[in-house]
Amino acid sequence: MTRLTAFLVAAAATASSAFAPALYKNTLSTAATPNVFGVTPKVQTSTSLFEKGKKILDQTELPEKLYFEKAKEAPKVLGGIKIGTRKIVVVTGASSGLGKKCAAVLAKTGRYFVVMAVRDVEKAKKVAKEEGMPENSYVAMKLELGNLQSVRDFVQNLKAFKSARPLNHLICNAAVYRPTDPEPAWTDDGFEMSMVRIA
Ligand SMILES: NC(=O)c1ccc[n+]([C@@H]2O[C@H](COP(=O)([O-])OP(=O)(O)OC[C@H]3O[C@@H](n4cnc5c(N)ncnc54)[C@H](OP(=O)(O)O)[C@@H]3O)[C@@H](O)[C@H]2O)c1
Repeated sequence: MTRLTAFLVAAAATASSAFAPALYKNTLSTAATPNVFGVTPKVQTSTSLFEKGKKILDQTELPEKLYFEKAKEAPKVLGGIKIGTRKIVVVTGASSGLGKKCAAVLAKTGRYFVVMAVRDVEKAKKVAKEEGMPENSYVAMKLELGNLQSVRDFVQNLKAFKSARPLNHLICNAAVYRPTDPEPAWTDDGFEMSMVRIA
């Protein structure tokens, strides 16, 4: 535990990534706090180390946010669209690649109403037209998975749209795969974009 905390302090002091400021603050506030056993962890708390780290972090340029609350989408409602006996399916990342094809195939069966959950609504609408998706077979809704507020907003919009109807299927297709990126990328909430699960 002690070694881990010390590692985090050192990492925060030297890292230059966008996530580092949050890590730095958390580490500062918990470093001298007694743990569950009532023992205060011994942490390498050299003032110069903190000062050095703080200076680096203060100079770190934060990346642009992926999602702006100001650009929030107005909740969509079912106005004019008859879903009838069709099932409602949400496809994330429906604006390109496999998600796009999946959305188009489902919409064209006539058995599904597709909610295209996408980060670029205009792009999705264009793609839907290009793929020949029937007018009343889909709706494009804003979803930026790199921001938890956007996820909450999407859920709110989806509920407003489908009203009391159930959501029948959720296809979690959207993802990024950047194994060769030299630097890690971070979400607006400070999570690393790529995660590896080692079993
Ligand atoms: N293709 C393969 O060989 C392969 C192999 C194994 C697994 N997979 C998995 O299959 C899925 C689809 O692959 P693909 O090749 O079709 O990928 P793709 O063409 O890159 O499409 C990924 C989709 O995810 C969306 N997306 C990315 N980041 C997002 C974010 N932060 N918020 C919301 N949407 C986001 C993209 O939106 P934009 O349209 O705005 O870019 C795009 O529509 C992925 O989960 C991928 O990991 C693919």
